[in-house]
Parts: sequence; structure tokens; C-alpha cells
Amino acid sequence: MADLAPQLRRSAHADFQADGVLAAARTLRRNPRQVAAEVVDHLPEDGLVATAVVAGPGFVNIELADRALLAQLARRVGDDRLGVGTPEAGVTTVIDYSQPNIAKEMHVGHLRSTVIGDALVRVLEHLGGTVVRRNHIGDWGTQFGMLIQYQVEHPEPVPGDSGTMGRLATLYRLARAQFDTDSAFADRARRRVVALQAGDPSTVAAWQDIVDESTRYFTDVYDRLGVRLTDADTVGESAYNAALPAIADELERGGVAVTSDGALCVFFDDLRGPDGEPTPLIVRKRDGGFGYAATDLAALRQRVVELHADRLLYVVDARQARHFRMVFDTARRAGWLPPTVPAVHVAFGTVLGPDGRPFKTRAGDTVRLVDLLTEAVDRAREVVAAKNPGLTGAALDERAWQVGIGAVKYADLATNRTRDYVYDPERMLALAGNTGVYLQYAHARVRSILARAADGGDSTVDVTATLEPAERALILDLDAFADTLVEVVAGHEPHRLCGYLYRLAQTFTTFYEHCPVLRATGPRRGNRLALCHLTGETLRTGLHLLGIPTPDHL
Ligand code: ARG
Repeated sequence: MADLAPQLRRSAHADFQADGVLAAARTLRRNPRQVAAEVVDHLPEDGLVATAVVAGPGFVNIELADRALLAQLARRVGDDRLGVGTPEAGVTTVIDYSQPNIAKEMHVGHLRSTVIGDALVRVLEHLGGTVVRRNHIGDWGTQFGMLIQYQVEHPEPVPGDSGTMGRLATLYRLARAQFDTDSAFADRARRRVVALQAGDPSTVAAWQDIVDESTRYFTDVYDRLGVRLTDADTVGESAYNAALPAIADELERGGVAVTSDGALCVFFDDLRGPDGEPTPLIVRKRDGGFGYAATDLAALRQRVVELHADRLLYVVDARQARHFRMVFDTARRAGWLPPTVPAVHVAFGTVLGPDGRPFKTRAGDTVRLVDLLTEAVDRAREVVAAKNPGLTGAALDERAWQVGIGAVKYADLATNRTRDYVYDPERMLALAGNTGVYLQYAHARVRSILARAADGGDSTVDVTATLEPAERALILDLDAFADTLVEVVAGHEPHRLCGYLYRLAQTFTTFYEHCPVLRATGPRRGNRLALCHLTGETLRTGLHLLGIPTPDHL
């Protein structure tokens, strides 16, 4: 009888409102207000509920007793998991995120994927889940023929610092220019692709050098971002080469894919182009080569069969929605994706510039992720220095990094991920509003209150005390932390955690304005210190799950 769930929610009219009676009354074919009145009459007399009244068409408005709220506060303060359970225990999630491309700069799109993916990984692991990270880097394709051939023909060093992407980006530009204008070079580059695919040792070695150089660069960016991707998580497109012929064969034998115009294709009834012609997923191209689709099918099958995924997540730009629909659909038809395993394209919107168009430099190039991060940290340094004139040198640099990177990540995570958002460094570093800095500041403020408590902040809860409205509100908000994390996982929506932490910081501010903590005496002092302590821990843990550092001072 799922209908009979009480459906408790927080309410503006009471601590909680139970809406479940409406559905129950419909099932019973009875008057909902009458059923609600009976529910109220039968509530247990255990002292938890102070008042329960029927409201509206048949809701039940519930106020909890102060004692019940204080008992919950006491339990939370004594629990280093803050009431968060492990509902993900025994569940394996394979999550595909970040996915930059070899020999190309990382841009804001990769920032989104990396930051959203990292937050989901942290929350899933915190809820007890097993998470396998997959950095599906673009390390295969025809462009490597061009890059390698250019290097062979121009062995002199290409300008640029080899520790950055500078050298490879220059190499890419030079090779591309020659490829586009010199058809003899283009032919040699194509032959080089064939050599690479055939495993020619010197060609493969040259390819490996390029991959290694880029990977070192990506790792450096991940370190700066403070995300947990490592080399072991990098399993690029090339890793599936050996599996591709079997993927094609199986699809063909099973009748899932058919040959059309020489290419091996999967067709979908409901997917058509603007001309009304069906748009297929191309598994094998007419020249026999495999592309992005085949690689993703092989990766998917490996994730289910060998990694035993219970859930597959792909944190990728919304513009690839059709690709993933086709890949998932094909895998279901082929029997590689059991009905019990959900595959989700965790899509995200575009980062826009101040003009409301996709973010570009003034020259119209994509913005390099490293430049964006450097700028954010530089601006954060100014904000931090203005607040702490005494902070200098390495300590200032460290704080600037914590605030700058935190600001960039928070701005990305705080909006519903499917929406586009405008990249605005000024706003993301504002001390007021829904920003990372505001939350880091709220956390530091709680820490400083606790540090100032002369008794070391003895936060023993006295459940017999009475509560002010602002204290009640804070206890109820603190109690919603565990449910919020479950919602983050259910919808793959880190912004729900941001919204929660922002509200919590505001509720705490109201509490602190109305309820003196350090000047309080008697049982109230311990209770209020407990509230400060729990708020601080909840903010710290929540920000940490978003990948945002929490310095003790700002
Ligand atoms: N490398 C691709 C890009 O930069 C994204 C890869 C997404 N992941 C995947 N399994 N297809 O657009």
C-alpha cells in the first residue's frame, strides 16, 4: 500500500505537513478530512508530537515537542556521520566524467563535467557506494595521423613549454594548417593513421608520447582543481580498440545493426533528421573504421560485464543527448544493458559569456580552463587580502586558492545542471548571496564562535530546555542533511546540496541574531553551542562533498 505513505514535508504552517491522507482517503473512498481527524486521534502519546491538527482538504499539520527536537539534536551531535546512512552500500556506480581530448586544451565544458562528476562521486562514496571513475579521454582518431606525421617531417622542437599544453596546442595548429592546405601531406597523414591502427611500433610510440604529455597536463589541472581523478581512472577511447570488431559482429548477427550504404548502422523508429530521413548510429564507417559510437558501446559493455556496474552515469554536455540515447538504446536491444541497470546521461548546459553567448575569448577562441582558474584565484587573492591585511606569502596564496577554486566550483554546481549559466567572476566571488565564498565564510564564522567559547565549547544537550523559534528552525534544517544527499543521488543533482547549505547558512544567521550563544547561561548555552557545532560540521561536510575547501578563517 504505497498509497498509505504519510508523505511528511516541511511546511510554512507547521514543522511538518502530512499529505498522505488524501491518497489514502481516495483508496478508501472516504472523506479525507474525516480520515485525517481519525489519524490525529490515533497518534501515539509518546510526547514526540506537541500538536497535530487537520488542515485544508485533509492535511495534518504537525508541531513537534521541544524535547523531541532536542533529543534529535543530541543524537546528531554525538554522531560523526551527522545522521547520514549508507543507502548506497552494495551498489556499484561507474561514472564517466571529465573526458578531455588529447593534444587539446581543456575548456569550460570539461570544467563542468569534472566538477559535477567529482561532486557526484563524493556523495555516492559518502553514502557507502562503490564508485568506479572513468575518465574517457579522447585519445584516438584520425587527428593523430596528422600530428604524428607532422612531427616526423618537422623533428625540430615546436615552440612552447612542454610542461603545459602550449607545445601540443601549437603542434596541433601547425599540423592542421598543413593538412588543410597540402593534399600530399593529408595523404601521408592518412597513411599514418593506418600505420597507427595497424600497430606500427614507431608510430605507436609517437602516439604514446603525445598521450603521456597531455595526461601529465590534465593531472596538473586536476591537482589545481582539487579533484580526485588519477591516472588509474583514465581509460580512454583507445583502450577499447581490440573489442570493437566483436561489438560490430554481435550487433550484426543479432540483427540490431544493418549495413546501409556500406556502413554498419543501427536505426531508430523515432529518430529522424530535419529532412525526415532516419538518423542512424554508425557503428562501423564505410571505410571499415570505428568511431565514437563503437567505442562507447564497447565501454558500456565492459562496465556492465566486467566492472559489474549497477548504475552507469555519463556526465557529458547536453548537446550529446542524442548520441547517448542511441548508444543506450542499442545496448538494450543487444542485451548488453539489463533492464535493472539504469544508464543516465547526466547532461549539463553551456557556460555563457557576459554577452549571453557560449563563452569565448575576445578573439573568438574557446577559453582555456587554466586561464579561467588563474584569473579566479587572482581575484580571490584581492578579496582575501582586503579582509585580512595581515595575511601574506604562501598563506595568502593558499587561502586565495581555496576561495578562488571554491568560487568557480560552487558557481558551476549551484545552478540546476541542465541550465546554461553566465560565467561571472565578480558575482561568484561576492561575499553575500548564494556563493562559495559566502558559505566558506559562514563556516569560518561558526568556527570562530566555537573558538571563543571559554569552556572549550561544551555542547552537552539538555533536552528539558525550551526552544526559541529560530532554534527550532535550525534543528529542523540540520535534520534534513541526510535526505538532501539522497535527493542529490536520486536526480544526480548537486545543486540540491548547494541550495540546502545556503538555506542552512541563512537559518544559522537568523538564529545567531536572535539567540545569543556566548552570553547565554544555563542549559541554553550548551544547547546553542551544540547547534553551532552541528551547523559547522554540516557546512564543512556538505562543502567537502561538493569538493570545496573549508578554511577555518577567511
Ligand atoms: N571527449 C568528449 C568531448 O570532449 C566527451 C566524451 C564523453 N564520454 C563518453 N563516454 N562519450 O566532447
